[in-house]
Amino acid sequence: MRIGLLTSGGDAPGMNSIIRAIVRCAEREGHEVIGIKRGYRGLIEKDFVKLTSRDVGGIIGKGGTILLSSREERFKKFEYRERAYRNLREEGIDALIILGGEGTLKGARLVAEETGMPVIGIPCTIDNDISRTEYCVGYDTAVKNAVEAIDKIRDTASSHERIFIVEVMGKHRGFIAVEVGLATGAELILIPEEKFPKDKIPEEIEKAKSMGKLHFIIVLSEGYGNAKELERFLKEKIGEKYGEIRSTVLGHIQRGGSPTHYDRLMGTKFGVVAYESLIAGERSGFVAFERGKFYIEDFEKAEEYKPIDREAYRLNLKLAI
Ligand code: F6P
Repeated sequence: MRIGLLTSGGDAPGMNSIIRAIVRCAEREGHEVIGIKRGYRGLIEKDFVKLTSRDVGGIIGKGGTILLSSREERFKKFEYRERAYRNLREEGIDALIILGGEGTLKGARLVAEETGMPVIGIPCTIDNDISRTEYCVGYDTAVKNAVEAIDKIRDTASSHERIFIVEVMGKHRGFIAVEVGLATGAELILIPEEKFPKDKIPEEIEKAKSMGKLHFIIVLSEGYGNAKELERFLKEKIGEKYGEIRSTVLGHIQRGGSPTHYDRLMGTKFGVVAYESLIAGERSGFVAFERGKFYIEDFEKAEEYKPIDREAYRLNLKLAI
C-alpha cells in the first residue's frame, strides 16, 4: 500500500511523533509512505516526497512539522480538489492519513466522500476543540508553554502590584484559558463560553485588592476578546487606582518548542492507531480518544460542539479569593 501523509492548518507540537510512528509502522510491514508537503497545498501542487524510517530519525522531540503546513483556501473549491485527486491517482496513492484541526478534518471528510479512497484523520490542534475526542495532539505543550510564561509574568505582577491581562490562544474556544487559568491561579478567566460581563471586571479587581491581593491576573481567551482593548477599557473605567494595568499577548510561543512527553506519547499512539485502522480496512473517520481508549469516529462528529470543563472554570472562581 502507498499511504499519503499530510499535516495541515496550525502546526501542533507532537505532529512529528505521529509522522515518525506511521512511517516506521508502515516500513516494518512493507508499505510505503509518501509525505505531502504543506498540507492541502502540496496535494494541489503535487509536492510529494517518499519518507523512510531514516528520514524520521530524531524528530520525536522537535516541535512543528517536518512536512510543513499551510492554511490552503483553494482546497475549498472543487476545481482544485479535482486537481489534487488527479495527483493522488497519478502518484498511485491508495490511502491518506491527515493531521490537523477542525478545518483540516473537514477537508479530509471531503476527500473521503469525493474519492472513495480510505482517509483517516488525526486531531492535532493546540485549541483541543475537536468534538468526540478528549484530547487533540499539541494541547499539553501549549498549556505548559502558557503556564511557564504566566508564572514569569506573575513575578512582575506581584512586585509592582499590577493588574495583568494575559491573552492566550484558542480561536473560538476557551480550553487553553480554563486549564492555564486554573493551573496558574488566575484571579479571573475570560472565555467565550462563559460570558463574564466586562462591566463586572472592575468590581472583581476592587474586591481582590480590598482583600489584600498584591496583583490581579486575568487569563483572557482570544475568543472572548482582545487584550489591548480590555486594557483600554479598564483604564477608562478605573484608571490605575488599584495598580498599573498591563497586557501581554502570548501568541505563537504557545504553539512552539519541544513537545511534552505527553504529546510525544499521545502522538505516537494516535499515529499507530491511524495506521493500524487503515490496514485493518477502516475507510473513513478520525482517531478519537475517550476514557483511555482510542477508536475511529465519523468525520462529521468532529464538528459538533465540544463542551468545556465548566467545573474547572467554576473551581477557579471559587478559589480566587
Ligand atoms: O488553531 C490553532 C491556533 O493556534 C489558534 O489558537 C489561533 O487562533 C490560530 O491558530 C492562529 O493561527 P495562525 O498561526 O495562522 O495565525
